[in-house]
Amino acid sequence: MSINLGKLFSEAAAKQKASPIREMMSSAKKPGMISFAGGMPDPDIFPLDLFAECSDIIRTDGKTILQYGTTDGYPPLKEFISQWTAPRMGKTVRDEELLVTSGSIQVADLLNLSVVEKGDYIITESPTFLGTILDMYNHGANLCGIPCDNEGMIVDQIPGEIEKIRSSGNEVKYIYTIPNFQNPVGCTLSLERRKKLLEIARNYNLLILEDDPYAYIRFDGEDLPTLYSMDTEDSVIFAGSFSKVLAPGVRVGWCAGPQEILRKMTVFKQGVDTSTSILAQGLVYEYCRKGHLEKRLPSIIDHYRVKRDVMEKAFQQFLPTDSVNYTKPQGGFFYWLETPEILTDDLFEKAVEKNILFVKGEPFFPNEGGKHEFRMCFSFPSVEMINEGVRNLGTAMKELL
Ligand SMILES: Cc1ncc(COP(=O)(O)O)c(C=O)c1O
Repeated sequence: MSINLGKLFSEAAAKQKASPIREMMSSAKKPGMISFAGGMPDPDIFPLDLFAECSDIIRTDGKTILQYGTTDGYPPLKEFISQWTAPRMGKTVRDEELLVTSGSIQVADLLNLSVVEKGDYIITESPTFLGTILDMYNHGANLCGIPCDNEGMIVDQIPGEIEKIRSSGNEVKYIYTIPNFQNPVGCTLSLERRKKLLEIARNYNLLILEDDPYAYIRFDGEDLPTLYSMDTEDSVIFAGSFSKVLAPGVRVGWCAGPQEILRKMTVFKQGVDTSTSILAQGLVYEYCRKGHLEKRLPSIIDHYRVKRDVMEKAFQQFLPTDSVNYTKPQGGFFYWLETPEILTDDLFEKAVEKNILFVKGEPFFPNEGGKHEFRMCFSFPSVEMINEGVRNLGTAMKELL
């Protein structure tokens, strides 16, 4: 006889839903399957030899990086991040305002531990990144989704939603935004809306979590200032990541924010994982110190721009363009498609028959939506796969129209 686990699970565990993307990964391994699902970097451009050479640091600083380290991060890496990000942050972030995390996904988790009570609301873009939605639910948060257009989140809708939430006796703690090349939509928050968002945070005493892992993967246009650099009220926590510019396997991200909040997050992190792997931080630091990060960035951007352009051309060539809406993203990894006359569930079934995977829209929506929408990632498949996969997707769509 085994014990009754059902009686032991927490409320959050009992309600837990697995990430639909992780669930799909097993189908993605089916022979011949072309996956546009997971938002993964292209492993063909991982810097295998350069990164292997960085393991020299084990000989030179092994006694430190193989030891337990300080929770807030490996000091040389913190110093590098502070210098490297200064142009985007608008200043050299001070040591006390910087925390190295286990991937940037951990930033949301530590912030949720620090500010979210069960039942509190978080304002998010709708749709938004699945990973953070799942973490927010782990903390018992309620999500209030604000729609996006080509200029990002329609921030004018936020005050009305806050008033509604507050008049029902609930609290809003923060606004979560992915301002550049948003996951999943690909849109970028305009300068005007960035200003308004900060004003709203100030007026309603809210924090902003600025999640910006794609910032450096810009193909066209000019960088816009980060919310962090525009903030005068200590309201922004900025999350950055090495996942897209180096490799996600290192699991090294960071956040910059007001010292008072970072101190709380750091103490929570002590109990979560002691610190992000100091060994991984040491390797990442060595890679950055040798100048590889900066040197390789232009070719990484070019590599993904080519894939974005191949996907754009394939859409024009193979999709029934009168029946599908999409916008060319200026950076990042994703296209977001809308098929008003086709249900995504039906398209997904047909697509899988034709050995194509994408992510259906629904799980990205914190509230309702996504029945006619889906996300296509162009960073992972090869150029040949993009062409073949989009051709088959076009056939699947035409069969359903
Ligand atoms: C918007 C967004 N935030 C955070 C992450 C997580 O990144 P990391 O690998 O740094 O945890 C991702 C990964 O895809 C993402 O798309």
